[in-house]
Amino acid sequence: MSNTKRQIFLGIETSCDDTAVALIDATEKSVLKHCIHQQVEHQSFGGVVPDLAFKGHSKHLPNLLNTLLRSACVDKDEIKGIGVTAGPGLAGGLLVGVMFAKGVSIALKKPLWAINHLQAHALVPRLCDDLEFPYLALLFSGGHCEFVVVYSATEFYLLGYGLDDAAGECLDKVGRRLGFSFPAGAAIEVAAKMGDPLSVPLPIPMRDKSLNFSFSGLKSAALRWINIEGEKKLSFEKKANLCASLQYAIGQGIQKKVENFFENLPQESHPRAAVFCGGVAANQYLKNMLEECFSQYNVRLFTPPPKFCTDNGMMVAWNAYEKYQAGIAPSMNFSIRARWPIGV
Ligand code: KG4
Ligand code: ZN
Repeated sequence: MSNTKRQIFLGIETSCDDTAVALIDATEKSVLKHCIHQQVEHQSFGGVVPDLAFKGHSKHLPNLLNTLLRSACVDKDEIKGIGVTAGPGLAGGLLVGVMFAKGVSIALKKPLWAINHLQAHALVPRLCDDLEFPYLALLFSGGHCEFVVVYSATEFYLLGYGLDDAAGECLDKVGRRLGFSFPAGAAIEVAAKMGDPLSVPLPIPMRDKSLNFSFSGLKSAALRWINIEGEKKLSFEKKANLCASLQYAIGQGIQKKVENFFENLPQESHPRAAVFCGGVAANQYLKNMLEECFSQYNVRLFTPPPKFCTDNGMMVAWNAYEKYQAGIAPSMNFSIRARWPIGV
């Protein structure tokens, strides 16, 4: 049955190894249905293989969208607009998503918006909570670390960024050596619950005064520890200790940057809210650590539930709605942008 108050948006995400689609009702801030296909074929390679990702998206996206539209009980006429991730990400996957979305947009006669994957991560907490602009966003994924002020749905000011390995990449590479399947972040979190965070001496990453991030030194230190201990001889207890220590060091590194941000910032200039987002924000331990850190500055930290942190179609659909609300004209006249910074 058609309900005129609903504002339904479709989101399509294919920037990395997850093929994801979703339908949301932006009025109710509810997810009508979301579907995701996680490509497992990369696991034996220990990282995403672009060619396999491209093939996987072309194979699964049509069926996934079909399943979504059939199972969501939504009249296609009710869909108000479509969002598709146009970058940053792997060119092949982005191309599949964008070409497919343009076809759907023509077939259904619905407006289309090109979505920046990083902006979508930073905005999705507004789908999950009542969160007003401006706010601070700490975005950590498999390929990015960003310290951003989100002024509006279209204005992002980059305060700091990753200089080398991202936090997720560090977890994935260490996890690979521990024999965990890719991506390893979630498995590291589980193992860490049984470990002692102070047992393996690891360096706190990049303790300088900037707001930039660097996790490659931490990754190397963890890999060196594995080499010294002997990869094959590692007991589960030792692995758990390393995971707990790695998580702790990542948390400490992020906390240091938060402290840098607030240092010399008068109370009246403190942001009202902050968000922790991107795949790494699915980590409950890091979420707790950062919540405590922000509470010292009387700033509330919002972290979306895990399924909104890792790549998903909801964040792309929500970002299309945000653009629509902000009066940004839809367009077919765009191409993919494998490199596309979040803002200035
Ligand atoms: O945002 P995302 O899904 O994809 C990218 O845009 O990269 O982030 C993926 C990253 C991977 O590195 C993965 O290991 C990490 O997020 N991740 C986690 C957890 N779940 C996923 N890291 C820590 N703890 C988790 N529970
Ligand atoms: Zn992502």
